[in-house]
Amino acid sequence: MGGALAIASAYMRCVPRHLPRHLVSIADLSRGEIAQILDRADRYWALADEPVKKLASLRGRTVINMFFENSTRTRTSFEIAAKRLSAEAVNISGSSTSTSKGETLLDTAENLEAMSPDAIVVRHSFGGAAAMLARKVRCAVINAGDGQHEHPTQALLDAATIRRAKGRIEGLEVAIVGDLAHSRVARSNILCLARLGARIRLVAPWTLIPRGIEQIGGDETRERVRIATRLEDGLDGADVVMMLRVQHERFDGEAPRFPNTRELSRTFGLSERSLGFARPDAIVMHPGPINRGVELSPQVADGPRAVILQQVSWGVAVRMAVLERAILGDLPVEGAWG
Ligand code: CP
Repeated sequence: MGGALAIASAYMRCVPRHLPRHLVSIADLSRGEIAQILDRADRYWALADEPVKKLASLRGRTVINMFFENSTRTRTSFEIAAKRLSAEAVNISGSSTSTSKGETLLDTAENLEAMSPDAIVVRHSFGGAAAMLARKVRCAVINAGDGQHEHPTQALLDAATIRRAKGRIEGLEVAIVGDLAHSRVARSNILCLARLGARIRLVAPWTLIPRGIEQIGGDETRERVRIATRLEDGLDGADVVMMLRVQHERFDGEAPRFPNTRELSRTFGLSERSLGFARPDAIVMHPGPINRGVELSPQVADGPRAVILQQVSWGVAVRMAVLERAILGDLPVEGAWG
């Protein structure tokens, strides 16, 4: 056996292997597993203040970020997260891949897998893209947003932000306001927050509320989710107000769901006045990108109750935890924190 192969073979015998831990949906995670990710992210939060922001736990590992939709926060934070754990991060965008020449997503993924990455992070407009890849490739697959289906790491970073701001999630009243019809962020948050014991109000005109959305997690969400079609009702007593952008890019060919954006903004937009319906200590969240002056007034977006940039910071810490779990397994390897 050649030298390199012998070393690799010895390494394989020494390092315990495990099946890849995909993260396709929040539904894949138990309450305990969510808590484990949030606890691990807590340890990584402080790293951002260190002059040297580097740990060794994923040294020698490779993460491919494969984004077929635009992204600022998710793509950048996955790259930073991988690099802070000493992994190699490779970024490819949809327009630069051979999918533009007709190659399928699956063929693309299998060709990338032939280069032996440890994890593929994928964003795609097709709801189900991450699940499809997870069934076909051997490395871990992490869903960075699939169509209108789910965005699990967004929900985890939102949970981390709420937990830090409020000290708990259990028993909180969380209002999710806006374009629920097209929001993968809302779906993942409903599943995650219900599993962590929050109560959720979905706030929008009927035309932006998918039928049966309160039941996406079965009894767990049916018991914890209620619908409000007036902003005043939905925000009354809320501890957390999570605003959503109208996703015009996903309206493709649909009949209009509201008369115009100005009217939607007037009735469901969050201003200093309408924030008064919520609890005086309510925090304001938004996954970004914000449409200033539409779903959120600039005064609220930049005001003292907004935790929107904290959400972005938690994105790095949470994605470090998610990558580590995907590649190493649940338990930290001895010395991995060093
Ligand atoms: N929240 C979020 O997914 O933002 P990006 O589209 O910029 O990644």
